[in-house]
Amino acid sequence: MSSVSSQRPGPRAGSATAEAVVNALPHPVITVAEDNRLVDANVAAEAFFEASLAVLVRHRLQEFVPFGSPILSLVEQVRTRGAAVNEYRVDLGTPRNGGERIVDIHVAPLSEVTGHVVIMLQERTIADKMDRQLTHRGAARSVTALASMLAHEIKNPLSGIRGAAQLLELSASDDDRSLTRLITDEADRIVKLVDRMEVFSDERPIEREPVNIHAVLEHVRTLATTGFARHIRFVEEYDPSLPPVLANRDQLIQVFLNLVKNAAEAIGDSPDGEIQLTTAFRPGVRLMMPGAPARVSLPLEFCVRDNGPGVPEDLMPHLFDPFVTTKPTGTGLGLALVAKIVGDHGGIIECDSQPRRTTFRVLMPMYRASRGDEKS
Ligand SMILES: Nc1ncnc2c1ncn2[C@@H]1O[C@H](COP(=O)(O)OP(=O)(O)OP(=O)(O)O)[C@@H](O)[C@H]1O
Ligand SMILES: [Mg+2]
Repeated sequence: MSSVSSQRPGPRAGSATAEAVVNALPHPVITVAEDNRLVDANVAAEAFFEASLAVLVRHRLQEFVPFGSPILSLVEQVRTRGAAVNEYRVDLGTPRNGGERIVDIHVAPLSEVTGHVVIMLQERTIADKMDRQLTHRGAARSVTALASMLAHEIKNPLSGIRGAAQLLELSASDDDRSLTRLITDEADRIVKLVDRMEVFSDERPIEREPVNIHAVLEHVRTLATTGFARHIRFVEEYDPSLPPVLANRDQLIQVFLNLVKNAAEAIGDSPDGEIQLTTAFRPGVRLMMPGAPARVSLPLEFCVRDNGPGVPEDLMPHLFDPFVTTKPTGTGLGLALVAKIVGDHGGIIECDSQPRRTTFRVLMPMYRASRGDEKS
């Protein structure tokens, strides 16, 4: 009598243990029947919808979500396809539950009962939402101004310095010649750095064409295994039916080369180092992007995963910022450049990291023969 669950009416599937597990989850989980009537909900769902299970089971899903919410079509989609679907960053806010409630939605068919579907919601805080959307764009912007300034203010005087050192070299003694060499070498190094940064200030529209991502990944893998990642095992998991991505091939190569290089550097000399390259089609992924009126669909997913030690936790919030590096000779421009290119292509990049499993995930819009929605 005194247990909490005894006060919770309604039929519940499964054993008491399964129920306890579902109730322990911090995320709302609900089950709906064929007519979208709610038949079950966990404690987190009661809190989310601000109604007890007894009340919830008297209503249909559409009564708790905004009019025309994509969650309804997701549920339908799961019923017809019989497979799970996810959608990210959907606003389930209604005047009733107090405005904006951004959630990731995971919908799966319940195999035991035809037409029944399980929905799990994962709430996103607003801060999290802003953070992820703006990280790479902000990073690219802040480096843009700096890059164009550097290009003008540093490269010209540098070429003067370099030229002067070369002239001196002609009449220098052997001892002094090593000094003039030092000047030219260091000048070259700075020019290289500035060149790398100049990409950020390049505001020209990129030339894009349908690109086969698998050819790009294979190219990057070949470059890696014949060079800096000779000792590392590569594992590929490609979805061969993946459509082409509308992109600039050279820039895509740069993206994946940087990611694979970072992965190889994280692995270091470890004898069981492994880098996994995967591609997948995820039509359920839709996101709010700054400046875009509607959610943008980013169904093309490309991942680079490594089994290195992982990204240091304190680095995570600034990972895509320029000049963030833990390497003695790193510039910290690799990931900022990657984020800039992915953003220019209308996509996003995110990172999940834990020891022995670090994943950089690039999500890109789908190429459409007419004008697509790939504009950012
Ligand atoms: N796969 C990874 N595993 C662990 N840490 C990573 C990984 N990728 C990036 N990092 C961390 O993020 C930092 C920034 O990476 P980024 O590519 O921007 O610069 P960098 O690799 O340090 O320098 P550069 O790319 O110029 O050689 C790295 O110094 C490293 O600490
Ligand atoms: Mg790098």
